[in-house]
Amino acid sequence: MRKLAAGNWKMNGGPSALAEVAALKARIGAPKVEVVLCPPATLLAPLAAAAGPALGLGGQDCHPEASGAFTGDISAPLLQAAGAAYVILGHSERRAGHGESDSLIAAKGAAALAAGLRVILCLGESEAERMGGQTLARVGAQLAASLPAGATPENYVIAYEPIWAIGTGRTPSLEEIAEVHAFLRQSLLARWGAGASACRLLYGGSVKPGNAAAIFALPHVDGALVGGASLKADDFAPIIEALAAA
Ligand code: PGA
Repeated sequence: MRKLAAGNWKMNGGPSALAEVAALKARIGAPKVEVVLCPPATLLAPLAAAAGPALGLGGQDCHPEASGAFTGDISAPLLQAAGAAYVILGHSERRAGHGESDSLIAAKGAAALAAGLRVILCLGESEAERMGGQTLARVGAQLAASLPAGATPENYVIAYEPIWAIGTGRTPSLEEIAEVHAFLRQSLLARWGAGASACRLLYGGSVKPGNAAAIFALPHVDGALVGGASLKADDFAPIIEALAAA
């Protein structure tokens, strides 16, 4: 399987965005791993023109409908037309800030697949769930309820992102990450059979140049979903290099 480093720019990407992408491109050359940037939707088309073959693009959310009267939303076909090959779905900032349920996330996933996009599906526990020993139950329930019928190991990527590790500089221990990733692999094997070993499992939450290599050395960690550290080429490039070396 080809490992994946995905950058989630969230609501960032000002006038320096194109310069950062040019710097990243120059730094990583033709990477051994897949690299995908998920900028705000307004930047997809300009980045598609600048990114070149080494950098893929993704959106950060999509509506379950393909078109219609949904002010402020963006559809999967519009993302695809702007240059996206992926879309992030179920990020905790959307689950919490926009009240997204697992069933809505599954409906969005079906829309993404219908538009020919691949999905990066985010799952993760809160700090209270972690403290209460409910992590595996939580991510297991999210996984079961937010995969649409058409999901396959090839068109879905699963990102384990503990909510309390996002943007905080805190991460689970390596043992805790390994435990969740092994659990996710087992769950996917139960759903899809042996083919599930081809599904990429990403870790996300405060991935930095300093901790990336240790995380990438863990079994069933096939890449990362990177927020803050994906905004600057100087931070994202060493993470991509660590993944290529893992
Ligand atoms: P972070 O965000 O790397 O800034 O913690 C990760 C994410 O939200 O995907």
